[in-house]
Amino acid sequence: MPILTIESTCDETAAAVIADTGQVLGDAVATQETLHEQFRGVVPEVAARAHVERILPVIDTALQRASIHPDRLQAIAVADRPGLAGSLLVGLVAAKTLAVAWNKPLVAINHLHAHLYACQLAATSTVYPCIGLVVSGGHTSLYACQNPLDLDYLGGTIDDAAGEAFDKVAAMLLLDFPGGPAVSKLAATGNRQAHSFPRSLLRDPNYNFSFSGLKTAVRYAIVGPGQQDFSKVDLTNQQKADLCASFEAAVVDVLVTKSERAIREHQMSRLIVGGGVAANTYLREKLETSATRNGYQLVIAPSQWCTDNAVMGALALEKIKRGEFASLDLDITPGLQRGF
Ligand code: KG4
Ligand code: ZN
Repeated sequence: MPILTIESTCDETAAAVIADTGQVLGDAVATQETLHEQFRGVVPEVAARAHVERILPVIDTALQRASIHPDRLQAIAVADRPGLAGSLLVGLVAAKTLAVAWNKPLVAINHLHAHLYACQLAATSTVYPCIGLVVSGGHTSLYACQNPLDLDYLGGTIDDAAGEAFDKVAAMLLLDFPGGPAVSKLAATGNRQAHSFPRSLLRDPNYNFSFSGLKTAVRYAIVGPGQQDFSKVDLTNQQKADLCASFEAAVVDVLVTKSERAIREHQMSRLIVGGGVAANTYLREKLETSATRNGYQLVIAPSQWCTDNAVMGALALEKIKRGEFASLDLDITPGLQRGF
């Protein structure tokens, strides 16, 4: 029997119907990019209100695409952590209400574990055990994963997430939102050595990341110390491309080096990578080179399942196999504490 999965952790409203074999029967995503682009970042209150408007139509669309009547569902799964509080609440309330109305059990999904599970979706054999790297707009985290549900958090960003840094650099250069794809596109024609940007915590003996110093270094390179007004900056396309390329090189360098060390120190032979930034072409190239050079297997989530979606909620099937259901007093865990 299929499950219904619901995702509303940030600014994507998504639902999917997934067979117990893992086959995707129906999938729907409503993005909010046009709502947030004028602010060049996600505005939590705007995101929550938009989820309220979209959640039921998105669930309907997923069910229709799957040609499934709710009676045939075996459970309803929802991402309950981490994310924006208002956004999470909308998905959770919808899931609980439908669970009561349709008399179905509820399953709670960790959104970051689901980003990693996206790597399993197109794989022909298990991708666990492994080191897992999540690189998204809200998180940059490394895990030692025994299986899809037992993950040891090794470390993560102590300030900005990788995707957040891409978005903020894009905002400084007045590029489109979300910034990742825009920066990546320009970077492809730039010189990666044009600026020597910092690789924070690169040699620290832990698995933490920090991208806030890098972001400040880019700001100084654009407007100089103490300046905030980017609207008067007059850079050529090549200058912008060089900034993007050098910035991207610094982010990717740190991500690849720390992942390699996690593989080595935990004697793993596989790295899996998920989250929006995993769609980045340069990161994918550099990880492939690293995997070949260091002899580990690399599995990156298929591009269409890197950014937020409900298909990766297939992770709920693993919980159902273990009999791990949530009660109706399930609450959201936005994640002010680190280490999911
Ligand atoms: O996983 P995701 O959809 O949302 C969160 O869980 O946060 O990730 C969104 C982030 C945004 O910051 C976006 O700029 C970034 O992923 N992103 C990229 C690329 N595509 C999306 N960053 C770099 N290169 C890309 N191609
Ligand atoms: Zn995400």
